[in-house]
Amino acid sequence: MSPPHGPATRSAWVVRFAELVPKAGAVLDLACGGGRHTRFFIGRGHRVTSVDIDLSGIADLKGRADVEPIQADLENAAGGDGWGPLAGRSFAGVIVTNYLWRPLLVNIVAAVGPGGALIYETFARGNERFGKPSNPDFLLQDGELLDAVRGRLKVVAYECLEVSEPKPAIVQRIAAVRRADDAQNRRG
Ligand SMILES: C[S@@+](CC[C@H](N)C(=O)[O-])C[C@H]1O[C@@H](n2cnc3c(N)ncnc32)[C@H](O)[C@@H]1O
Repeated sequence: MSPPHGPATRSAWVVRFAELVPKAGAVLDLACGGGRHTRFFIGRGHRVTSVDIDLSGIADLKGRADVEPIQADLENAAGGDGWGPLAGRSFAGVIVTNYLWRPLLVNIVAAVGPGGALIYETFARGNERFGKPSNPDFLLQDGELLDAVRGRLKVVAYECLEVSEPKPAIVQRIAAVRRADDAQNRRG
């Protein structure tokens, strides 16, 4: 049996495109949960800022120099354009998996620094056939991640499809990068 935070638990999409994140650059793991991708990126030598409303899943990482845990309610963050403690910050890698709060999409894209990468994977419209999440607020619409990055990031890969692993689901996912000389285009 694989350990609870072992390689088998990582998103294959995140693993596949991790190379896009500049070596040793700072990574944001948004809505980090049990920290499966926080653990993956610290293992690759990155410093990771791990944000969640509930940090109990990464309690064992507390005190590490390469992990910055931030407890925040991302859906009710005060100030900084609703981005709360992350306002004004940018990262070499922004990782979001199995989480969607639509108003944050603009902040998520803006948080990708010059030369950095966004790797995003979550459930999409049609997933209601398989169970939760089924609330349209938590399901990406067709092409929504492409729309979110258009004119801001260069798309390296995009998929919207039915998967069977780790469970049957409809997922949408994107890997996209910001040009190294693009310091101006972080907000539309
Ligand atoms: C399905 S889990 C995904 C965790 C992780 N990204 C992964 O893929 O393993 C969703 C996460 O979103 C977090 N979350 C939900 N609402 C939140 C909010 N308002 N602010 C911050 N985090 C929130 C939950 O605590 C949970 O850890």
